[in-house]
Amino acid sequence: MTSKTFSAFIAVMENSVSPKVQKWVWRNIYNLLSRFWRDADWRFMNYGYVAAGDAFPLKPEDEPERAFIGLYQQAVEGLPLAGARVLEVGSGRGGGSRYIARYHEPASVTGLDYSPSTVRLARRLNADTKTVAFETGDAERLPFAESSFDIVVNIESSHCYGDVEAFAREVGRVTKPGGWFTFADMRGRNAVAELDAQLAASGMELVDHRDITANVVAALDAAEERKRQRLRRSWITRRFMSEFSGSQGSVLYKGLTSGHVVYVARRYRKKG
Ligand SMILES: C[S@@+](CC[C@H](N)C(=O)[O-])C[C@H]1O[C@@H](n2cnc3c(N)ncnc32)[C@H](O)[C@@H]1O
Repeated sequence: MTSKTFSAFIAVMENSVSPKVQKWVWRNIYNLLSRFWRDADWRFMNYGYVAAGDAFPLKPEDEPERAFIGLYQQAVEGLPLAGARVLEVGSGRGGGSRYIARYHEPASVTGLDYSPSTVRLARRLNADTKTVAFETGDAERLPFAESSFDIVVNIESSHCYGDVEAFAREVGRVTKPGGWFTFADMRGRNAVAELDAQLAASGMELVDHRDITANVVAALDAAEERKRQRLRRSWITRRFMSEFSGSQGSVLYKGLTSGHVVYVARRYRKKG
C-alpha cells in the first residue's frame, strides 16, 4: 500500500464512511494485526513520546520500549497510582497496563479492548504480571459498575470510536468521585475543538491540556531504525505497516510534522 493509497483510505474512512462502519473497520484491522503480528517483544501500538532530558527509571529489559512507555509515563506522572484501581480503555497488546502495574504499585489494572484477538494476545504477552487483567469490551459501553475505578487511562485509541461523547460519558460514570481521567490521542488540527467538546461530556473538570506533537515526532524519529529492521522481515505487509506505524515519510508522519495533525494530552478530575 503506497502513501497515496493509504491517504485515500484515511480520507474515505474520515469523510465518506459512517462512524459505525469506521468502528467495524478498525476492529478488524486490530484483529488481523494481532493474529499476524505476534512478536513477544512488541507490547505497544502507539507512536510514543520523548521529552528532552527525560530519564524516568526503567529496568534494562524495558529500555527498548522506552519511547512507547513514555506516552504512558507522561499520562500518569504525578497521579495517585499507589493502591489505585486503574482502568485502561483501548489497552491493545497490554504494554501500557503492564508498565503501570509493574512500576506504580496500583491495587489492580484492568485493560479493556474491543478486539478479541488483541485481548488474547495481551493476556499471553503479560501473563508475568499478576495485578493486570484484560477483558473484551467496548469503550462506548463500559462493562463496569458506577464508580469502579480511581483512574481511567486512554492512550491513542479514541480516534477509532464511533461515538467519543458516549465514551466520555462512560468514563464519567465508572470513575469514582475525586478520581482521574488521563487521555492522549491525535486529531486533524481542525477537529481538536470538537474533541474537547466531546470529552467534556465526561462531566469532569479539565485540569491539564497540552499539545505533545513535538514529543511524539521525536519518538517516531527515535523508533525509526527499530521499525525498519522489523519491517524488513515482513515484506508482504511492509508498505501497510510502514504507513500504519508512522514511519518517516508516511502520511501520518507528514501530517504531524507539517502541523495538519496534532497530538494532544488531557487530564480531568471528577468532583469529589
Ligand atoms: C493504536 S492502538 C493503542 C493500544 C495501546 N493503547 C497502546 O498505546 O499500545 C488502539 C487500540 O484501541 C482499541 N480500540 C479501538 N476501538 C475501541 C473501542 N470502541 N473499545 C475498546 N477498544 C477499542 C483497538 O482494538 C486497539 O487495540
